[in-house]
Amino acid sequence: MLQDKQINLFKTDCLTLLKQLPDQSIDAIVTDPPYFKVKEDAWDRQWKNEDTFFDWLESIVSELARVLKRNGSLYLFCSSHLQHRTESIIAKHFKVLNHILWVKTFGRHMACHPPALRRYFSQTESIIFAEHRNAIKPDGYVCEAVLQYLQEQWKAAGLKYRDAELVVGSIARHYFSHSQWLMPTREKYLLMQNHVGHDYLKLSYDELLALKQADQYQFDKSKLRCFTPPTKADLVNRSHTNIWTFVPVQYYEGKHSCEKPSAMLDHILLTSTKENDIVLDVFAGSCSTAKACLKLNRKFIGCDLDDRYFIK
Ligand SMILES: C[S@@+](CC[C@H](N)C(=O)[O-])C[C@H]1O[C@@H](n2cnc3c(N)ncnc32)[C@H](O)[C@@H]1O
Repeated sequence: MLQDKQINLFKTDCLTLLKQLPDQSIDAIVTDPPYFKVKEDAWDRQWKNEDTFFDWLESIVSELARVLKRNGSLYLFCSSHLQHRTESIIAKHFKVLNHILWVKTFGRHMACHPPALRRYFSQTESIIFAEHRNAIKPDGYVCEAVLQYLQEQWKAAGLKYRDAELVVGSIARHYFSHSQWLMPTREKYLLMQNHVGHDYLKLSYDELLALKQADQYQFDKSKLRCFTPPTKADLVNRSHTNIWTFVPVQYYEGKHSCEKPSAMLDHILLTSTKENDIVLDVFAGSCSTAKACLKLNRKFIGCDLDDRYFIK
């Protein structure tokens, strides 16, 4: 099995690794693909033009969608210059939840010569946070007992569902269908009861609420996408908003040109994963994601192609 050990790191191409992973086997993807001609490194200059780069990126994003569990999370880093196109590719395969801006407190913007600029110097990096389009949702959950009761009673009264729209408005279509199911309000339920007469919809509104509660009690919240935002006490270190200000990694001999700060990866893992969850990074680089997994007791699967990041 690919995820037998806690850290499963391979020197291989991202697509080669992805093709070996089963459908819906990963809890969270935290990955930082090449940016296309932002860095001098050869790995960032492999494509003739933007279009070929984005064709390649899309082939990866569609594999990421295949391997991510239905309640999983995706965090994908991208440089500010092509973030709009990257986000639109992700949006084809996922539901984008946030566009996170990592505002770098220090970096090259401090050393540049402003009078020589022809546009504003970018002080940010973007992180696209997304989930599956069909992610398991609490409000996507249909309260089967109430739904069936409403359907049966309305039909038994010889009425069509669209008749309910004449009584309470277009909202009624949500009372009788599995998609976007909604509980009628007390006022709307009373209007429906008055419409069907004494023989149907005999449950009082409070009894209807009790039926809903009894049914909802069985809903397993652990099936939802994991999201544990910082507590109030933690807000000094971790943001609950989409603006992040983690201090970039300072230069040291042998530093990866894009090494991500450990505090930022801790924040991502603490928010969107639980202990023993499986985290994937197919552009591992300096292994910053893997190190955070080791520290926080998550399992890691990842790869990189560059020899420099593997011990010889
Ligand atoms: C932006 S860097 C990731 C840096 C990483 N987030 C870190 O903190 O060190 C992108 C990485 O993708 C790797 N890479 C480029 N093309 C690849 C491919 N086809 N398969 C696997 N890795 C690749 C590069 O070697 C580089 O290390």
